[in-house]
Amino acid sequence: TLASVTVPSLLAGCNSHDMSAMNMGGETATAVTEGSFTTPLRLLDTASPSGPLSAKSTTEAIVAGKNARVLGYRDGMLGPTFRVTSGATVDLRFLNALTEETNIHWHGLLVPANMDGHPAQLVGAGQSFNYTFRLDQAATMAWYHPHPHGKTAKQAYMGLAGLFIVETPTEKALSLPSGAYELPLILQDKRLDASGSPQYNPSMNDVMLGYMGEIVTVNGVASPMHSVATRMYRLRLVNGSNGRLYNLALSTGAQFWVIGSDGGLLSAPEGVTSLLLAPGERADLLVDFSSVPVGTEVYLKSNTFSGGGAQGQQAFNLLKFVVSKAETETFRLPARLETVTPLAASVATKTRTFDIGIAMQAMQGMNMTGMHTINGKVFSMNRIDETVKLGDTEIWEFNNTQGDEPHPMHLHGAFFQVLSRTGGRNALTASEKGWKDTVLVMPGERVRIVVPFTKPGTFVFHCHNLEHGDDGMMGNYQVA
Ligand code: C2O
Ligand code: CU
Ligand code: CU
Repeated sequence: TLASVTVPSLLAGCNSHDMSAMNMGGETATAVTEGSFTTPLRLLDTASPSGPLSAKSTTEAIVAGKNARVLGYRDGMLGPTFRVTSGATVDLRFLNALTEETNIHWHGLLVPANMDGHPAQLVGAGQSFNYTFRLDQAATMAWYHPHPHGKTAKQAYMGLAGLFIVETPTEKALSLPSGAYELPLILQDKRLDASGSPQYNPSMNDVMLGYMGEIVTVNGVASPMHSVATRMYRLRLVNGSNGRLYNLALSTGAQFWVIGSDGGLLSAPEGVTSLLLAPGERADLLVDFSSVPVGTEVYLKSNTFSGGGAQGQQAFNLLKFVVSKAETETFRLPARLETVTPLAASVATKTRTFDIGIAMQAMQGMNMTGMHTINGKVFSMNRIDETVKLGDTEIWEFNNTQGDEPHPMHLHGAFFQVLSRTGGRNALTASEKGWKDTVLVMPGERVRIVVPFTKPGTFVFHCHNLEHGDDGMMGNYQVA
C-alpha cells in the first residue's frame, strides 16, 4: 500500500498488483450473486416536498434477517419519493445529521445554481440548509443524492439516494399505469460484510471500474419479488449504482416499451428487448403482463453486453415478478406521448470537445489521485473550465476513443439531446430519442450532444461512475 496517498478513501487498496491491472482492460468485476427472490419488493414511501428532510445513519435489512448499518434520508436506506406537479414550489429544510459534510444534488431537476448541490455548497455536520425552488419542467423522474467532492461515491453507496417525480397535466392526460401499476425502482449493487452491512473501501481496481457489489438491490432489497396482475405496468428505474451498468431485459425475452428517459417522455413508445442503463440514467418503461398466464414468473434481468469489460460478461436477475391475479386490461399503448422537438446541430453557436478517461501524465510519479480526467485535467473546485453564454445552444462532444472504461457523462443545470454516436455501438439507443441529462460513452465512442443552456450560474459536469467523479473526472462550467 502506498504510504503517501492523500485521498485515503479512494486509495486505501493501491498496490503494485492493482497497478498492473490499470488501463489494460485487466480489471476484475465483482460477480453478482443472486438470492432466492422471496423477499417482497419494498415500495418506496412518498413524502410532501415541503418540510424536514435529514441525512442520517440508520439500519436496513438489505438481506432478510440481517440488520445492516446504512445511511438514509429516512429510517432505513434510501429516501422518500417526492411527487410534485410542475409549477409547484419545493421547500425542504435539510438537516445533516451525519458526522461529516454532505449536501443534496437534485439530479434531473432544473433548479437555480445556488440550490443545485454544487460540491462547493456543503452543509456541515449538524448544520441545516433550506432547499427552496420552484419547478418548471416536463414530467419526468429525477433523483437526489449527495455531492461532496471525494465523498459522493461513499455516501450514495451507503444509501443516500431518493426519487423525485415531476408530473404535468399533459402526462396525466395519457392515463399511464398508476397506483399499484406504477413501480418506481432504484437499482444499486452492494458489497456486504458478514453482518450484512455495505462496506466502502475501494481498491485501485474499484477506482478504475467503479465500486461494484455482489448483491444487487432493488429499492434497498436484495433479490426481491413482486406480485403483479395481468395488466400493463409502468417501471420507472434509476441506475443508482456507483459503477455497474444494467442491460435491462425480461427473462421471457419479451418486448417492452421505452416511454421516457432522463428528461421526460419520448415522442412515441419505442419497443425494445433490452436497454442499457448506466449510472445516473433513468428509464421509463411499460411492461405488458396482460396476456401472461397467472402463475408465471418473469424476471427483470440484466443481459450481457459488450464494451463494459468483465462486468458485461455476466447475465443476472434483478427482480422476480409473479403473475398472480387475473384482471382485465383496458389501457392501450398511446401512439404519441409528448412533443419532443429535435434540436438541429445548426442551431449550435459553438462546439466543445472533451477527451475523457485516464490521463497518462496524471499516473506518472505515482501520484495516484486524479487519474480520471476531462481534457487531461483533474477537477478543481474553483477553476471555471468552460464559460457559456446564457441562452446559447452548444454542441458538446465526448471522446472516449483512447479509453477502455464506460463513462456516463452528466451535466447539471441542463437537459440535452444526443445528436450522434460514432465508434463503439455506432447508434443511438431508444431512450436517447428523448431529453437526457446523462449519456453513456462506451470505450471507442465519440458522442455528440446538443445542449440549450437556460440556467445562469456555475454547475458541474462529470462522469457519473461515482468513483471516476470523485477521482477528478469533473469540471465546472459557468453560464453567464
Ligand atoms: Cu447524479 Cu452530479 O450527479
Ligand atoms: Cu445531476
Ligand atoms: Cu467514468
